[in-house]
Amino acid sequence: MHEVVNTAQLKAWNGYEGTHWVHHQDRWNAINANFDLPLLDAAAIQDGDRVLDVGCGGGATTRLAAATAGRGSALGIDLSAPVLELARARTAGAGITNASFVQGDAQVHALDADTFDVAISRFGIMFFADPVAAFANIARALRPGGRIALLAAAEPAENEWLTALRSLDPLLPTGDFGTPGSPGMFSLADRDTAVSALTSAGFLHVQAECIRAYGIWGRNAAEAAAFLLCSGPGRHLLAGLGPGIQESVREVLTEQLRPYENAGALPLRSTGWLLTGTRGERTPSD
Ligand SMILES: C[S@@+](CC[C@H](N)C(=O)[O-])C[C@H]1O[C@@H](n2cnc3c(N)ncnc32)[C@H](O)[C@@H]1O
Repeated sequence: MHEVVNTAQLKAWNGYEGTHWVHHQDRWNAINANFDLPLLDAAAIQDGDRVLDVGCGGGATTRLAAATAGRGSALGIDLSAPVLELARARTAGAGITNASFVQGDAQVHALDADTFDVAISRFGIMFFADPVAAFANIARALRPGGRIALLAAAEPAENEWLTALRSLDPLLPTGDFGTPGSPGMFSLADRDTAVSALTSAGFLHVQAECIRAYGIWGRNAAEAAAFLLCSGPGRHLLAGLGPGIQESVREVLTEQLRPYENAGALPLRSTGWLLTGTRGERTPSD
């Protein structure tokens, strides 16, 4: 792998987080799939386009982009070796030959310059220590006039899974799940922060559209609660608690989620910023 500056993220996504995303890939896709249509609409991929998928994970959106690009191609970049192994296996299994993957830190990876027509991301852009440098690196890889369609998690309060976790507050302090501006799920949750980072990186006509979409977190409240408590923020909450308290937490969260049960599924609403813009003629610098 080339240079990496986001070493804490490298460790996390090649450790527990990466393994978790591989094991629960279908669940995460069921959670995020309803963002795909708005993302692809905004990307406006044409036959023959070259697409870059940033923080591509298991490659669900890379494969969609490759299919839309027809005679073009899609390249997924991600820090995580285990998710890329899955991405490659699923892509080969689907018989897709115009999607490929590279392991690298999108903030600094030496991507071919002036190459891509469009860069997309489904929640893979919130983990940069220096978002402006990362977006400038992505801008350099786009051809002049190239487009971005990037999804970032929006305000924590607009995400029902987080509201459910916050309901545990009387039982244990849920604290902060990330601060806007520092790397993590909600680093770009503030609209102005996200728009300003992209504009500073050299993108023109930057816009942020609020997208709300429902995802399926399990078949019922108990399954969704167990899943939430083994994913990033939930796992963080349980760390250091004894098994008895962990069980109480699971029971409280299950009851909190019970009203959302609907016909054999547990849908919860998530909210993201769909960030669009174009690369100018000038070569971006960071
Ligand atoms: C929330 S997951 C989203 C994965 C995928 N886009 C999806 O929708 O399933 C975030 C992904 O971003 C990747 N990532 C985090 N920091 C990165 C960086 N600096 N460069 C490239 N990928 C990164 C992680 O390894 C992880 O796969």
